[in-house]
Amino acid sequence: METVLREGRPLAHEYPLVFGENAAGQIETLEVDDEVASTCAWLARTLLTGGMEVPVSVVGSVATREECRGKGLGTEVLNLATSKAAAEGAAFSLLWADDPAWYQERGWVPFGSETIYVVDETMAFLLPEPVGVRTLRANDAEAVHELYCLHSARVDRTLEETRTMLNVPGMQVFVCEKEGQVTGYACMNRGEDLGQVIHEWSGEPDSVLPIVSKLWHANRLVHERLFMMVPPTGADYSAFFEFVKARGATGILAMAKLGSTEAIARVFDAATPDSVTVEATSENTVDLTGEGGTIRLTDHEILLALCPPRGDRRVTDVVESQTGTSMPSLPIRPFIWGLDSI
Ligand SMILES: CC(C)(COP(=O)(O)OP(=O)(O)OC[C@H]1O[C@@H](n2cnc3c(N)ncnc32)[C@H](O)[C@@H]1OP(=O)(O)O)[C@@H](O)C(=O)NCCC(=O)NCCS
Repeated sequence: METVLREGRPLAHEYPLVFGENAAGQIETLEVDDEVASTCAWLARTLLTGGMEVPVSVVGSVATREECRGKGLGTEVLNLATSKAAAEGAAFSLLWADDPAWYQERGWVPFGSETIYVVDETMAFLLPEPVGVRTLRANDAEAVHELYCLHSARVDRTLEETRTMLNVPGMQVFVCEKEGQVTGYACMNRGEDLGQVIHEWSGEPDSVLPIVSKLWHANRLVHERLFMMVPPTGADYSAFFEFVKARGATGILAMAKLGSTEAIARVFDAATPDSVTVEATSENTVDLTGEGGTIRLTDHEILLALCPPRGDRRVTDVVESQTGTSMPSLPIRPFIWGLDSI
């Protein structure tokens, strides 16, 4: 991984949940002539969204040695990771791709949404003054974790995991303190990833936006602009950025591949009214039956009905009309904050 993804520079300390002591992450490898030729990492996680728990796996650091490429090893090592995750109960696997084309050709589909706003000098003067903002201290981890847990859409994470992740190198973390209480935090950069991106934060806008202001002032001589990730559930933040006419665009959250249909059937069951019955009818089909009839969803359709890219509800609408049932809790709106990327 270090050879291919970091030109030999260290990578392990950026991903303690995969490479750290007692890490829960797993690493798949394929060898050629007794040497690792292709590899990837994956980690079982639970998404918390809309009161539901969704078991998933996140995949990262997919790499094949240059001299071994084009022989199907990358495809095979990725399949190893996703099939093991599915066997362990993941409803689907997720990954972040710089170039989605390779994954798309291997059955991965765009999934979910996130909006990215641009912080630059055209709007930064409208941010609140960075009053009460200071750098993170070691004993802030508990307060940061409590704030993280206020998000309705997040990865289930322990305090210890948050504490570990706050120590990843190359990250700028500030908190906002009011009357001795930490009321907001925000993280920018993460190892060699997410440069200039404010990728994890929590708190009310009057605690987080002063931190954004601080990050802007601390970085404006180096960067012309910063970017801030906002989840579909972050209406207050979207309203602010739209009010100050910040540029922004809604893109996809990740690429996804279907895992266990039994696990995904349980998610549909939790997300649809009691009158709907859901059954995993094969390794790649799920049937939803309502008073108006049954619809069989296959492969991509399952993910498109559950959590389409950019909230596009067209497949969910078809499911509603064929089952004769309104499904207001679909699509689900999960979010993965930056510290959980692998
Ligand atoms: C992407 C990567 C893992 C593929 O590994 P691999 O072992 O060559 O994979 P496969 O042999 O299964 O697939 C290779 C095929 O994908 C094609 N391909 C490679 N990169 C591609 C891309 N970005 N978009 C579309 N197709 C691509 C190759 O041309 C080849 O096609 P062919 O089979 O018709 O010759 C490898 O190129 C790599 O390590 N790249 C650098 C690291 C990287 O980008 N990792 C992804 C990080 S998220």
